[in-house]
Amino acid sequence: MTEPMLDVREITFRFGERTILDQISVSVEAGEAVAIMGPSGAGKSTLLNILLGLMAPLSGAVHIAGQSMDGRRRRDAARMRQRHIGSVFQHGELLPALTPLENVIVPALLAGVPAAEASARGRELLEAVGVGDVDLSSDRLSGGERQRTALARALINRPSLIVADEPTGSLDVEAREEIADVIFSAPQQWQCALVVVTHEPLVAARAQRTGMLRAGGLTWQ
Ligand SMILES: Nc1ncnc2c1ncn2[C@@H]1O[C@H](COP(=O)(O)OP(=O)(O)O)[C@@H](O)[C@H]1O
Ligand SMILES: [Mg+2]
Repeated sequence: MTEPMLDVREITFRFGERTILDQISVSVEAGEAVAIMGPSGAGKSTLLNILLGLMAPLSGAVHIAGQSMDGRRRRDAARMRQRHIGSVFQHGELLPALTPLENVIVPALLAGVPAAEASARGRELLEAVGVGDVDLSSDRLSGGERQRTALARALINRPSLIVADEPTGSLDVEAREEIADVIFSAPQQWQCALVVVTHEPLVAARAQRTGMLRAGGLTWQ
């Protein structure tokens, strides 16, 4: 059996007295997509923040590409994130003054990839996700183009895992379907694991598995 790209083992997380995650486990292999649904405030973003190493669980373990995220110091966690994880948020979260290509290559440049190589890889990814005009100012992009660009940026360092927090939450119905198709094709195309938090059953339907997070527990449907 191949080692999962993401392996979450019985993590518990509390804010004060309140248990947000109660011994949550999930494991996702390369090429596989998992959707996480659940009411607002259930802890979905908290779970993603733990995967990203931005918050530490009280107990349990997170392994990404076989490497433990436990007890990592700030700088190590940042390096793990840079090397192994790509993220997509609700509004794309691009730097508006930069072009799509510049936005996409920033994480590669930060990881020490030479500019020419980063640029070539960025152009290839933008073409693959369907962004035509790579040299336009990013504040001129549509919501859908922003999310395509954010996905290309998430892929630039060839991540083991992509996490997406309501990536279609601010799109109209048509763009939502298109962007959901593009995001959910990424695991197979780029051999990574994908975890998507969404409120939309039609989006979640593209995943191999959907987990419902409620009252601290994750149940699979
Ligand atoms: N810094 C914090 N301190 C205390 N409670 C928090 C903090 N951040 C978030 N919460 C609470 O934790 C719960 C889970 O939040 P979140 O993970 O953002 O939920 P979701 O993404 O599922 O809507 C919410 O009830 C929220 O109010
Ligand atoms: Mg949230």
